[in-house]
Amino acid sequence: MKKPILFLVSTLILVLCNNCSQHKSEMDKFVDNLLKQMTVEEKIGQLNLLPIGFDVTGPRLSENVEQKIKDGLVGGVFNTFTPNAVRKLQEIAVNQTRLKIPLIFGYDVIHGHKTIFPVPLGMSATWDTLLIERCATAAADEASADGLHWTFSPMVDIVRDPRWGRVSESAGEDAFLGSEIAKAFVRGYEQGDLSKQNTIMSCVKHFALYGASEAGRDYNTVDMSRIRMYNEYLPPYKAAVEIGVSSVMTSFNEIDGIPASGNKWLLTELLRNNWNFGGFVVTDYSAIMEMENHGSGDKAKVSEMSINAGVDMDMVSEYFVDELLSLIKEGKVKEQTIDVACRRILEAKYKLGLFADPYRGLSDKRAETQILNKEKLALSKEAAVKSITLLKNDNNILPLDASKKIAFIGDLVKDQRNLTGNWSGAGDYKDAVSLWMALEKQFGENKFFYSKGCNIIDDVELSAELNKYGTQITIDTKSPQQLINEAVQTAMKADVIVAVLGESFGMSGEAASRSNIELPSNQQALLKALKTTGKPVVLVLMNGRPLALQWEHNNIDAILETWFAGTMAGEAIADILFGKANPSGKITMSFPRNTGQIPVYYNYKHTGRPFSQNEKYTSKYLDVSNEPLYHFGHGLSYTQFSYSDIQLSDTVMKENGNITASVTLTNTGKTAGEEIVQLYIRDIVGSITRPVKELKGFKKIMLQPGESQKVEFIITQDLLKFYNSDLEYVAEQGEFHIFIGGSSTTDNKSRFILK
Ligand code: BGC
Repeated sequence: MKKPILFLVSTLILVLCNNCSQHKSEMDKFVDNLLKQMTVEEKIGQLNLLPIGFDVTGPRLSENVEQKIKDGLVGGVFNTFTPNAVRKLQEIAVNQTRLKIPLIFGYDVIHGHKTIFPVPLGMSATWDTLLIERCATAAADEASADGLHWTFSPMVDIVRDPRWGRVSESAGEDAFLGSEIAKAFVRGYEQGDLSKQNTIMSCVKHFALYGASEAGRDYNTVDMSRIRMYNEYLPPYKAAVEIGVSSVMTSFNEIDGIPASGNKWLLTELLRNNWNFGGFVVTDYSAIMEMENHGSGDKAKVSEMSINAGVDMDMVSEYFVDELLSLIKEGKVKEQTIDVACRRILEAKYKLGLFADPYRGLSDKRAETQILNKEKLALSKEAAVKSITLLKNDNNILPLDASKKIAFIGDLVKDQRNLTGNWSGAGDYKDAVSLWMALEKQFGENKFFYSKGCNIIDDVELSAELNKYGTQITIDTKSPQQLINEAVQTAMKADVIVAVLGESFGMSGEAASRSNIELPSNQQALLKALKTTGKPVVLVLMNGRPLALQWEHNNIDAILETWFAGTMAGEAIADILFGKANPSGKITMSFPRNTGQIPVYYNYKHTGRPFSQNEKYTSKYLDVSNEPLYHFGHGLSYTQFSYSDIQLSDTVMKENGNITASVTLTNTGKTAGEEIVQLYIRDIVGSITRPVKELKGFKKIMLQPGESQKVEFIITQDLLKFYNSDLEYVAEQGEFHIFIGGSSTTDNKSRFILK
């Protein structure tokens, strides 16, 4: 029986491979032929990516883009979409230029295009890679229907500093989880076949190490050892490359003293030679120009550095179009280098099918039926529900009993503007369902009490600054004290208080670093006043980063982290608050106790003087513990789960063998619920020091009350590998501890030896 199947499978593989190579040789022929016809100027034009439309995120905006397209000086544009707008520009490229080469249209489709999903940090809290893939596919479907071919996503920068506003665009602090999520995004956007009209090219960013900018200040310097890079920061970019990401975006920071956009070691040795990346490299917004500010040289010099380092496409600077021709004449850049870069961009266009149909995917009909349709909204709600993370729930105050009198307090209760979060691209906040809208829909009007209680922030200057990029904060004409008094009066009428607080969307994201990550002081004052009522208080948070919540943790009964949960945020939060859905999210970034503890992350290294309360000369603070407030992997449920001891198939792993570790997970509570089972491994002794533990597996398991399930992990030797001091990827013999449980603090432990 087996043979015919095997035969069929191998024939199929052969046919597919033949198709692939045939396809490739057709593409090669096509591109060779095109390149032969191109002037050097035209080739350089293909390396130019210009913004047109809106959304300026840097110091420069291009002018006369339409004319430049006609002149053959543009390879792609970004920040414009809709079938009409795209058609108009594409027509110029294919009708009015000499060689009729179509443009690529890019955009920051970061967590949805028009249907907005939770911010990526929230998405990562689902630990649900299939769900993330489905969201990316849905985003690609909408974006491609709107004329786009390319998204600047996923951002896979490892982040350990919640002062950095862009942590909201990340998948958190862990390289293993980050790699799985990176792959899910790429698979979802590209589906392994860019010729499909509903796919878009993805772009892994920001290569590399952008998440480690000093002091959490955006665009700041990075300095890091190779060992840390390879083991802790590079894996998600590498994972994206291995799964076939089409493009890579450079980062703003320097690496070993050389800005990423001019760093040959990074872009050629590592990315091309070691990782075999075959797509194209684009810079971040005006990053080549910014190399002058870094002190790398003048305009000509940084252009030379950048192209010779391995950049293929210049986003916004227009330095390539200005400088490359003379650099070739001076012999500083080889024409062949331009050919290689241009070929990569033409290949991307070919793979997208743009030469066959420059209007790929464009149809008003598709845009009408695919964008914000029922399925997309249901998916957005599913993602929001699964991202919401219950941080604390004393006395099971949640879920709420709708027959009780409940006061909802806070400016964010009725807010739509902030729900879609930062980088919500083409999403319109007016499509978002606020919590109040969802409550009224479910329970009717006037069922609950409401009071505003405070502005998001009282700082007039800061709110004016934030509002420059779209109103997100309104300062009430009533004084802060008046607002608090009214809220307390309202709260006094209720049995339970739900305070909905946090950040405005612009308080996290790009160029939104904060040096103090507590709730704004006026919100803290409100919470303190609500606490004095003696009524139970639930804190519902909307924000884009881990906050420092020590006081809140000590004083508030329940804390529900909802991130910026997207278009269906309100419905998802209401379902969780009233128990229609059971929270299952787990945080992917540690929440510090205070800002001074940063960076605090779970997979730290031991010191020679480990913490001890009773000894003075150990590694600790005088005024705060070493532990974060909420650990990586933490998140509660309305039910409880118990874990059996770990069963190992063997206590010895032979070279290239593997062992199976299993636990029995039981839902011991009264509600159906999903648990994220996490596997951590600690390498006890290494040729270089090893982290206290590292995530090496996870599974999401749904259980009915009383139900049990055996959960298995296969531990391969690959999972034990790390980069040693010679940057060789090795597993070293010796003892390993493994932990399986519901968070990174689990002490459910076993051990084995690698021989
Ligand atoms: C950001 C990128 C983004 C680009 C294009 C830059 O400022 O760093 O993440 O993709 O702008 O909008």
